[in-house]
Amino acid sequence: MKLLVFISVALFGASVRSNEDCPTACEECFCTEDPDGYLEIDCEDYREEAFPQCITHKVRSVSITRSEITKLSPQDFVNATALEVLRISESPRLTVIEDGTFEETTSLQEISITNCGLYSLPDELSRGLVNLTVLDLEHNAIKVLPYSWFDGTAIENLYLDDNRLDFLPQGLFDNLPTLQILNLESNDMMELPVSTLKKATSLTHLWLSQNPF
Ligand SMILES: *[C@@H]1O[C@H](CO)[C@@H](O)[C@H](O)[C@H]1NC(C)=O
Ligand SMILES: *[C@@H]1O[C@H](CO)[C@@H](O)[C@H](O)[C@H]1NC(C)=O
Repeated sequence: MKLLVFISVALFGASVRSNEDCPTACEECFCTEDPDGYLEIDCEDYREEAFPQCITHKVRSVSITRSEITKLSPQDFVNATALEVLRISESPRLTVIEDGTFEETTSLQEISITNCGLYSLPDELSRGLVNLTVLDLEHNAIKVLPYSWFDGTAIENLYLDDNRLDFLPQGLFDNLPTLQILNLESNDMMELPVSTLKKATSLTHLWLSQNPF
């Protein structure tokens, strides 16, 4: 009996992730606290429709997998001033990012929303995303990218593959000199005028296959 207790304590103590450090509204997730007191939140099989209301000023990273979330709204991120990484995947009911959603999240470096159902995007991604270097929107249902959508960001790696884009607005990348990697595979594009990429002078990788060109 003593041995059993010892073994379970040892096992429990060895697990890195726990929900002890999670803010109340995220008790069903796993949270890891770093030495500076910042939190990494990991929610798997998140069965709620609403985005978890636990992104405090101390949350640095959030990953949500297999959720029932339907939209992202500005109020979900009002306290997300320290958020550097946002990852959401395998959430087919997530279709909408509302206007102003990323207004307060000026620390964001990576947004990955993949294998979801996104088709409605905010008019502007947000000019406050000065440190955003990775934007991964692979495998969604995006048909249209708003004009000058990336302006004000510092995106280097942009993944738009496996969507329904049939054209790109003229000048879309004109204010994105940081762009290095662009994946447009598996879309519905009939053409890509050379002028679209004229100002993307840092571009080193471009994927265009599986389009009806
Ligand atoms: C943001 O912080 C305020 C004050 O601490 C709190 O009342 C509010 O519920 C928080 N909102 C979210 C979405 O976490
Ligand atoms: C952007 O990154 C730089 C360098 O890491 C940092 O000093 C700055 O505070 C960041 N800006 C924002 C708005 O988080």
